[in-house]
Amino acid sequence: MNILVTGGAGYIGSHAALRLLEDGHAVTVVDDLSRGHREAMDLLAPLGDLHFAAGDIGDRSLVLPLLEDRCIELVMHFAARAYVGESVQMPLVYYRNNAAGALALLEMMEEVGVTRFVFSSTCATYGEPGDDFIPIAESCPQHPINPYGRSKLHVEHMLFDYAQMKADAGEDFAFAALRYFNVAGSDVRERIGEDHKPETHLIPICLEAALGLRDSVTVFGTDYPTPDGTCIRDYVHVEDLIEAHITVMDALKRGDRRAYNVGIGRGYSVREVVDACRRVTGVDFAQVEGPRRDGDPPVLYADPGKIESELVWRASYTNPDDIIETAWRWRRDHPHGYEGA
Ligand SMILES: NC(=O)c1ccc[n+]([C@@H]2O[C@H](COP(=O)([O-])OP(=O)(O)OC[C@H]3O[C@@H](n4cnc5c(N)ncnc54)[C@H](O)[C@@H]3O)[C@@H](O)[C@H]2O)c1
Repeated sequence: MNILVTGGAGYIGSHAALRLLEDGHAVTVVDDLSRGHREAMDLLAPLGDLHFAAGDIGDRSLVLPLLEDRCIELVMHFAARAYVGESVQMPLVYYRNNAAGALALLEMMEEVGVTRFVFSSTCATYGEPGDDFIPIAESCPQHPINPYGRSKLHVEHMLFDYAQMKADAGEDFAFAALRYFNVAGSDVRERIGEDHKPETHLIPICLEAALGLRDSVTVFGTDYPTPDGTCIRDYVHVEDLIEAHITVMDALKRGDRRAYNVGIGRGYSVREVVDACRRVTGVDFAQVEGPRRDGDPPVLYADPGKIESELVWRASYTNPDDIIETAWRWRRDHPHGYEGA
């Protein structure tokens, strides 16, 4: 298939591009490199038919000809700004990039007749579900509490409304919104990895501490109503996540409007993850306690029952040590990420 991967130079998008190339698909990546890595594209280029275009997903002069010339049949849309705190500081950047960017892309797809879309949504669209909604199923009300989550929910609404209109008109369009929980780990063959700058995710922060690049890891909030007082989250391996994309891509048929939570279905506390990182790296790095962060609910983990039953998808990594091991192997060899790689 001919597939456009937006944000394909970023962490998850590059793992998707890698898997699609290995499966023999022709992959076109559009990434403005605001947070992505050209080095990842250079590493993937020998693996197959990869065309990389540097630029904004909303740039019609760039994207429209690519949709036509590369005969795109399906779009996997990873490109986005994805930091909660930054979204509070720069809401317009988030709405422009995430919501207006996706809108521009959909308009271009409409113009040239591309009818399949797989969207990187997020558990942040659920906001702070109460205890009654844990584990989180797709039926949990979506009340995001920050511009990041709202910008993603806007895109889901656009997709549902657009697909409904197409169905009413007897025309073909199908999409899936995958609501990811915390994505972690790297390519098991260590060809590419996770390199966010700035880094806000717990596991890579711990790995940076293990490498001596940080003095310590801060645990935000130790008085939550959880067994060890720290927040509990659901960590899904990036390869399992990409498997979910491939499975849903293959399953999409005319008129589908699908939404799935992608997580392992159980949570690990911040302290458990920090301890697992110490075990895997063999480094007893320092940990300091900080105050709670605004908008961090105590417990978030998925009920993956819908994707498991409808798509026969199941996470193969369920133990944090195994997930961290893959992240560590790449990071140990690339302490500064792609820089100097
Ligand atoms: N990492 C997670 O745990 C997680 C969890 C839930 C959802 N998500 C979603 O998954 C997607 C990928 O996340 P990631 O962790 O790989 O982030 P990332 O920052 O590594 O990747 C995003 C990529 O999109 C590119 N990009 C951003 N805006 C762009 C634009 N306007 N035009 C072209 N390219 C643009 C960036 O340069 C970057 O390479 C995002 O949509 C994010 O919201 C991630």
